[in-house]
Amino acid sequence: MNRLEAIQDRRSTRRFTPQPLTLEQLVAVHNVLRGIPALYDGHDMRAVVIEDGECVRSVMSGFVGSYGKPSAPHFVLVTAAEKPGWLENVGFAIEHAVLDMTAMGIATCWIGGQATREVFEVADPDIPADHTPVVVIAFGSAKTGGLLHLPRTGRKTLEEIAPDGVGDFGEALAAARLAPSAGNTQPTRFFAGSGLVDVYASFRTPLIYRARADHLQLMNQVDIGIALAHISIVEKACGREVLIAPGDAPERPELHYMTTVRHATQELA
Ligand SMILES: Cc1cc2nc3c(=O)[nH]c(=O)nc-3n(C[C@H](O)[C@H](O)[C@H](O)COP(=O)(O)O)c2cc1C
Repeated sequence: MNRLEAIQDRRSTRRFTPQPLTLEQLVAVHNVLRGIPALYDGHDMRAVVIEDGECVRSVMSGFVGSYGKPSAPHFVLVTAAEKPGWLENVGFAIEHAVLDMTAMGIATCWIGGQATREVFEVADPDIPADHTPVVVIAFGSAKTGGLLHLPRTGRKTLEEIAPDGVGDFGEALAAARLAPSAGNTQPTRFFAGSGLVDVYASFRTPLIYRARADHLQLMNQVDIGIALAHISIVEKACGREVLIAPGDAPERPELHYMTTVRHATQELA
C-alpha cells in the first residue's frame, strides 16, 4: 500500500490488541519519523516513539475527548516550538508518518486530548524547554483485526468544504475531504482559483467541546496541516509540485485565511 491508498484506508483506531508490534515494525516506525517532510522551513518539531505504552497510559486521564482511553501498546509524543504555522507544520509532517504507518498495516489514532505536559514529562523527560506538547499518536495492531473493518466516520460533502468548486484540484480536495480532524470537526475550507487554492479555517465549536473551545481551535490548526498533507501527496503522485505559503487572499465572512497551495509552474508564470 502507498500513501495514496493509505489516505483511503486510514481510520482512527481506539481499540488495540495489547501485544506490542515486532521489533522490525518498531524500527520501521522510527525510520518513518526520521524521513517526514516539513510544511514550512525553520520549524523545530520533535516526535518521540514511546515503545512502552504503559508508562503513557498510566498517566493519561480515563477520558479522551468522548472516546475513552486508548489501549495502544505504543505512542508517538509530538512537541514543537511555538511560532507562526507551528501547528499546521505538525499536522502536515505527522500525517505523512501516520499514512506510512497505515501503509505498513499499523493502526493509529491522533489524540489531542492527552497532550499535556504532565503526560509527556513522565514518558519523555528530555522535552526541550521551549517546546509545547501538541499531540499523541497511539499506534499498534487494531483489535478488530484490520483497518478496513472499521466504518469511516462521516465527512462533509465536497460542496461544503469547497463551496465555489474544486478548480484544477479535484482529486487533491477529494483526498483532503478524507483527512482526520479533531472531533471530526473538519475545519478546512478551500477556494480554488487558476492553478491555486486558498485555504481557510472555519473555527466553530460544537456544543460538546464548548468547555475546551481554545484547545479545539489549536487542534483545528493541526487539522489544516493534515488536509494540506493529503493535497501535497495527491499532487505529487500526479507529477505536480506544489508550493504552500501564505499570500494575498480575500477576507471571507466567518473564515480565517491560513495559506495558499499553488502549482509550482503557477508561481514561475
Ligand atoms: C488533531 C487531532 C486530534 C484528535 N484528538 C482525538 C482525541 O483526543 N481522542 C480521540 O479519540 N480521537 C481524536 N482524534 C481523532 C478524530 O476523532 C478522528 O480523526 C475523526 O473522528 C475522524 O475519524 P477517522 O480518523 O476514523 O477518519 C483526533 C484527530 C485529530 C486530527
